[in-house]
Amino acid sequence: FYQYFNLVMSNLRKILINKNLCKSVWFMRQAGRYLPEFRKIRKKNQNFINLCLNSDLSSEITLQPIKRFNLDSAIIFSDILLVPYALGQSVKFNKKPGPKLSDFNSKILFSNNEKKFSQKLGSVYKAIEITRNKLNKNKSLICFVGAPWTLIVYMLGLKKNKAEINLDKLNSNSILLNDIINELIKYLCIHIKNQINAGADVVQIFDSWAGLIPKKDINKYCYEPNTKIVEFCNLKKIPNICFPKGLNKDFEEFNKIVKPDGINIDHDIEPSWAKDKLKDVVIQGGLNPRILLKSKDKMFQAATKYFETFKDIPYIFNLGHGLLPETDPDKVDELIKFYRNFNE
Ligand code: CP3
Repeated sequence: FYQYFNLVMSNLRKILINKNLCKSVWFMRQAGRYLPEFRKIRKKNQNFINLCLNSDLSSEITLQPIKRFNLDSAIIFSDILLVPYALGQSVKFNKKPGPKLSDFNSKILFSNNEKKFSQKLGSVYKAIEITRNKLNKNKSLICFVGAPWTLIVYMLGLKKNKAEINLDKLNSNSILLNDIINELIKYLCIHIKNQINAGADVVQIFDSWAGLIPKKDINKYCYEPNTKIVEFCNLKKIPNICFPKGLNKDFEEFNKIVKPDGINIDHDIEPSWAKDKLKDVVIQGGLNPRILLKSKDKMFQAATKYFETFKDIPYIFNLGHGLLPETDPDKVDELIKFYRNFNE
C-alpha cells in the first residue's frame, strides 16, 4: 500500500511529507504579468477580482506557465485578498499604490458564516477541480492563503508606505485585532479545507508583511496565528509551506515555534545560514527575483549558490519573492533548464 501511495503522490507531497530528497521547481507568481499570454487575458478582464472568480480563466492562467516551462507544480491563480472580499470588504486593484479595500467594518466581518463564505468562493474551488483534472498526476497543485497579519495590513489599511506601518493605528486597534485574528484563522482554515477538498495537494501560507511587525508583537501577530493554521493542517494531514517574509534571523525562531512542513526563505537569508539553522523542515526558495533581470551568467551564478548549498538535503527551488512583471519569460525558461541540468 505504502509503495502505491508513494507512486501516486505528487513530487511536492513526497518531499514535504517524507522529507524526501526528490527535486522540484516552481516559482511564486509564475502565473502573472510577465507572461504575454496572461496579459492578453488580463486586458480583456479589467476587474481583477472578477478574473480570479472566473473558474475557466483562472484554470487556464494557472496552466499557462506549466505549458510553457513544464514546471513541477502549478499554483492556482487567485489572490490572498479574495478572503477579505468574501468576508464582505470590497477590493480594488489600482495600478499605483496597490490594492485598496473599502473601509473596515467589524459588524460585517463578525456577521459571516461558513456556508455564505464558501459559496462566495465557490468558483475558486471549481477552478481547482478543473485544473486538477487537467494537470499531470505527478505534478502538485498548490493552493494558498494570506496569513492573518498580512491580510490585516490590507483590511485596516495599516501601511504608511512601502516599508512602514502606521503604529498608532495598530496600537489603538490592538484589542479588536485579537478578535479579528481569531475570526480570520477560522475562515482561512475553512478556505484551506475547501481548496484541498477540491483537489489541491499542498497549501502555502503567505505572511508577506511579517517583517513589518514590531518585535514585541511578533508572537501575537505572526508566530501564534501561523502556528494555529499549521496545527489545523497537521490535523487534516495537509502538507504546508510557510513564507514569513522579512523576518531575517527570526526565521529560526519562527521555524522552531510554528513547525511547518516547508519554509520559503526570502532573499535576505543567506542559504548556508538557512541550512544551518532551519531544521526538521523542507527549505524552499530564496533566489532574488531581481537576478532574473540581470545577465544569464549572473543569474546562473546566483542560482548555483542555492543548488550547491542544498544539494544534500531536500530543497524545493523557488524565489525569495514573486517573479517581477518586467521579467523576460525566456530567462525563466533558461533558469529552469539550468536547474534541471544541474540536478540530473
Ligand atoms: O503565484 C502565483 O502565480 C499565483 C497567483 C497569486 C497572485 N497573488 C496573483 C496576482 C498569488 C500567490 C498571490 C498572492 C498575493 N497577493 C500576495 C502574497 C505574495 C506576495 O506577493 O507577497 C499578496 C501580498 C497579494 C496582494 C496583491 N495582489 C498585490 C500587492 C497585488 C498588486 C501588486 C503585485 O505585486 O502584483 C496583487 C495583484 C495580483 N495578484 C496580480 C497577480 C497576477 C497582478 C494583477 C494585475 O494584472 O495587475
